[in-house]
Amino acid sequence: MNISLITPKPFNPQKLRARKVNFQLSTDIPKIWHGNSLIMTHFFNAINLFLPAFELMMVRVMKNQLNNIEDSEFKKQICGFIAQEASHSQAHHQYNQILRKQGYKFEKLLKTTDFILTEIVEKRLGKQVSLATIAGFEHLTTLLAEIVLKVDMLEPAEFRMKELWKWHAAEEIEHSSLAFIYLQKINNSYWLRVVGGVLGAAIVVSFIAIGMLLLVLQERYFFSWKTLIDLNKLLFTKYKLIPYSLIPFFEYFNFKFDSCNQDIYPLAEKVFI
Ligand SMILES: [Fe+2]
Ligand SMILES: [Fe+2]
Repeated sequence: MNISLITPKPFNPQKLRARKVNFQLSTDIPKIWHGNSLIMTHFFNAINLFLPAFELMMVRVMKNQLNNIEDSEFKKQICGFIAQEASHSQAHHQYNQILRKQGYKFEKLLKTTDFILTEIVEKRLGKQVSLATIAGFEHLTTLLAEIVLKVDMLEPAEFRMKELWKWHAAEEIEHSSLAFIYLQKINNSYWLRVVGGVLGAAIVVSFIAIGMLLLVLQERYFFSWKTLIDLNKLLFTKYKLIPYSLIPFFEYFNFKFDSCNQDIYPLAEKVFI
């Protein structure tokens, strides 16, 4: 890992802390920064669009229920989780500014995202459903982080973008078990977990699909065989997003689901060496 972009701190899920980062994000990052693939670039850009709002929501909801936790060690872990998510949010907010400067239009989408997360999920559905939705989000982000690192999905990416996404993926793995354990401590209802898992997945998948479509349609030459081939590579053939995520996604609905999957830790350990 390049020392100038991330302050090195070894992978340690028992002692979560935010790492200092400076990805030197600026408009000299090429618009199409993942090889020459519109699809791969806008797959990550679409995730980037909603991450700041999404991670700030996690910070608010997690902070909100901290008083209901008595275990002081666990509280420290949650504070580490909150610090990591807050720094992810900041970095992705900076990157959204670059996307704006590069001419992409997405303000309405961001307002809608914010409305869904704050007005519908947080205010109308309440604290416990919000926490369950976050646990569902975190299950998906862990899955995505695992696939990204396992298949080396960022290999063709511009250096700073590669570092940004690898750092985020590795920290997602580092704190991957926390939101689920937090939910279990607050309310261990199986059906609450199911509602949060379904809601979290519906929000993440629709935000990524809509964001990708919105960005790809702003490219002059968006419709080509290459676009379709790249989409097929992302979903089925090269990076296998769907085959790799389908079964692990449904494991979340198993009564005996365990969020602590140490088998994936080496993927993240390598990033922070
Ligand atoms: Fe994050
Ligand atoms: Fe996370």
